[in-house]
This record gives sequence, C-alpha cells and structure tokens, in this order.
Amino acid sequence: MSSQKRELILAFESSCDETSVAVIENGNKILSNIVATQIKSHKRFGGVVPEVASRHHIEQVTMCLEDAMAKANVTYDELSAVAVTYGPGLVGALLVGVACAKVVAFSHDLPLIPVNHMAGHIYAARFTNEIKFPAMALLVSGGHTELVYLPKENVYQIIGETRDDAAGEAYDKIGRVLGLTYPAGKQIDEMAHRGSDTFSFPRAMFKEDNFDFSFSGLKSAFINKVHHADQVGEKLNADDLAASFQQSVIDVLLHRTEHALNSFSIKQLILAGGVAANQGLRDGLDQLLSRHSDVELLKAPLKLCGDNAAMIGAAGYVAWKNGEVADLALNADPSLEFEWIEK
Ligand code: KG4
Ligand code: ZN
Repeated sequence: MSSQKRELILAFESSCDETSVAVIENGNKILSNIVATQIKSHKRFGGVVPEVASRHHIEQVTMCLEDAMAKANVTYDELSAVAVTYGPGLVGALLVGVACAKVVAFSHDLPLIPVNHMAGHIYAARFTNEIKFPAMALLVSGGHTELVYLPKENVYQIIGETRDDAAGEAYDKIGRVLGLTYPAGKQIDEMAHRGSDTFSFPRAMFKEDNFDFSFSGLKSAFINKVHHADQVGEKLNADDLAASFQQSVIDVLLHRTEHALNSFSIKQLILAGGVAANQGLRDGLDQLLSRHSDVELLKAPLKLCGDNAAMIGAAGYVAWKNGEVADLALNADPSLEFEWIEK
C-alpha cells in the first residue's frame, strides 16, 4: 500500500456557461466531477449571455457542491485545500465560484488556491498521463487559441496566440451561418467527417518566425461563399462546407504547432481546450507527431476537453504544492493571461 497521504482538493469552475465542482485526490484521481451545463438556456440567443450565466451559476453552485462532496464520499475535515478558477472568463460568472470557494475555505480554515482557467485546460491532460517537462501545450477553446511553453512545473509562457478569432469562436460563428445551434463545434466536426474539402478556403500561414494564428480571413471567405450562393440560388453541400472549413482550421493549427516543435526541445505536446475534442484535429496531431518520434502527444480525455472543475483541481494541486495561496481578498480577473515568453 502507498504511504502517500491522501491530499484532497475541492475545486470550483464557473468562468463561462458550466457550473462545476469536483473533488480530486493527489492531483490525478477524480473522486467526483459534477458539471451543470447552461447550454440550453443560451442556445436561443446564439451565444452565452453573461447576466443569464451568472444567475444560473448562483442557482446551481450549492447543489453542485453538495453533489460533489456526496459523490466523493468525503467530509470537509478531510480536504487539504480549495481551488477556484479566478480568470479568464465572464466577471459575473467567475465571481460566483470565487465567492463560494472563499466561503468554504474560510469556514473550514483551508488554503484558497487561485487557478488560471487555461492552466486548468492544460491539466485536463494530467488525467491521461503524467506531464513531463519541458512541454508545449496547444490550447484551443472558445475564447483562446494559443501555444504555451511549460519549461517546468507551474510555469506557463505564451509563445503565440490568435491575432483575431479563437478557433472555437470561428466554429460557432460559421455554425450560425449554417443554421446550427450554439455551440456548433461538435456538429461541424461530425458534418466534416461526412464531407470533403472541396472549397479550398484560405489558410493564414504566416511566413514570419512567430507562432501566431489567424482565423478571421477563413471565416470571411466562408461567409462570403455561403451568402453569394444564397444570392444566386445555388445550393452548396453543407457537409463539404464543414469539411473545407475544418481542414483549413486544422492545417493552420498544425502548421504553427510544427513550427513550435521544430523550435523548442520538448518532451510532450499537450492538446487541450474545448476544440481539443475535435476528431480531425486529434487525428491530424497523431500524424504530425509520427514525424517527431521524440515527442509524446498527450491529449486531454474527450470528456474533460470542455469546461469542468476536475481540471481546475489538477492544476490547483500543482499550484498548491508550489505554494500559491490566495487570501480572502482574491478577486475575479476576467482578462487574466499567462506571461509571454521573454523574446
Ligand atoms: O474550452 P471550452 O469548453 O470553453 C471555453 O473556455 O471557451 O470550449 C468551447 C468551444 C466552443 O466554441 C465549441 O464550439 C468548441 O469548443 N468545440 C469544438 C468541438 N467540441 C467543442 N470545436 C470543434 N470540434 C469539436 N468537436
Ligand atoms: Zn474553457
């Protein structure tokens, strides 16, 4: 039997449209991970309405907490710390999780661990395998698309990011043009597998020596194509449109990731964020990494690609071990960012 003390982290996530509370053991074992999604409420608006999100978080968070503690079958006395997402995200939404985490930390005299939501996404991959440093993370979500270098544990440095839309945002925007409901990423991914890349949309392949992405040119080309066809009464194959769009997104992501693989000496490439659930991207990275046999590809488990508190508990455990503790003055930081790597 292992002699390691059982370290239990209670984690909260409420940065966007999922209220989630989890209990994580030793940073890598999920005892519970309750996720209450609000997607149904936001669908009719075609995106997340911040005020509606905050109200739902308030309604859900206490029930999620009770469920998470009951499912994990632990008492508050057994917890080691309370971790919470304090940014980036919607300020009103973040505040609900932060306030709730503070209440638990204060009333049970537990350390409060502030967690960057994007570090959480990276640590979703910790449930696949141990993270080995130095590592590189390709983070693709609804709000962010960035390449993050992890020279050692608990250090995150941005090396490149999108200059305009995030990849998930582009999926959701063109989804609206195709008449799909929000969020459209998963449906477009499925359609793409039935269609083929016949439209040859542009790919923003920067020639410069940087690691940035761009998706707005692709989005405009897509919208123009569909509007023009509407005007002349031409019927375009929606599956082919989806496949062409998806191939362009994947090509851009892979192109810049390959540049990062060639520029940094790393042990692992981590794929994380909501768009990391994309099957085409997962397959594309498998192919890319087959040419870089010295780098291990670590993909976040499909179920943990979207927002959840388990990933916050895993990142929180690492932050806590590294002495990152907040006091009760902790505030939400809607535009929290990792540092840029020194140029
Ligand atoms: O990380 P996430 O859950 O929330 C943010 O922190 O932004 O990411 C949500 C995004 C949405 O834009 C959604 O359309 C996209 O992830 N998404 C996908 C897939 N599943 C979710 N995009 C492409 N392919 C998918 N299979
Ligand atoms: Zn997220």
